Amino acid sequence: MENDVLKMILSRSSIRGYSDQKLTSDEIALLKKAALASPTAMNRQEQRFIFVTSDAMLERLEKAIFEGVLASGNEAFIERMKSRGGKVTYGAPLVVIICSKPSHFAPVDAGIAVENLAIAAKSMGLESVILGMPASAFNSPSGDAAKKEFGFPDGYEFSIAISIGHGSVEKEPHTWDESHVIDL
Ligand SMILES: Cc1cc2nc3c(=O)[nH]c(=O)nc-3n(C[C@H](O)[C@H](O)[C@H](O)COP(=O)(O)O)c2cc1C
Repeated sequence: MENDVLKMILSRSSIRGYSDQKLTSDEIALLKKAALASPTAMNRQEQRFIFVTSDAMLERLEKAIFEGVLASGNEAFIERMKSRGGKVTYGAPLVVIICSKPSHFAPVDAGIAVENLAIAAKSMGLESVILGMPASAFNSPSGDAAKKEFGFPDGYEFSIAISIGHGSVEKEPHTWDESHVIDL
């Protein structure tokens, strides 16, 4: 395939294992640009991107999610987390948390930004996995304290997160059903 962007879109997959290799400051700067370049409804730009790279905060995040999932009592979530060895961010050296001021289009804006990050990461030779599970850390009974600890501005809520790093495992992209496209 000639088109590099399409190559990245078609080869991206969710990678659930990362090496210890840290990202460089140049790589992190490029990922910040990719996040900020995401379009938002009416150009409101009301989402915030929390780049978590310190070992201490990555560990805190993992623990807060783990405790939030357990506190939720949601058996399906608890089982899914256990099936992944209790790992939620998979040891990635960067987790970007996208938080938003609640609005009709906030989830759409966040979805666009997280995919921008995933494709940008892939184009830089990095891997990623989009993460909904961290919601448990911020929506739990201790969620307000977690939001404060992770720098959410007042009134902002968790939207989505993404782990990014050098993959230590491989996974084929998902398959799809062509009939999900409706031609008129
Ligand atoms: C909104 C959203 C939330 C997701 N949350 C998680 C998650 O918390 N943990 C995880 O391991 N994967 C998560 N995923 C990854 C999906 O499981 C994955 O994208 C899907 O199985 C398709 O596989 P692929 O990304 O490898 O093509 C999430 C994906 C999306 C789009």
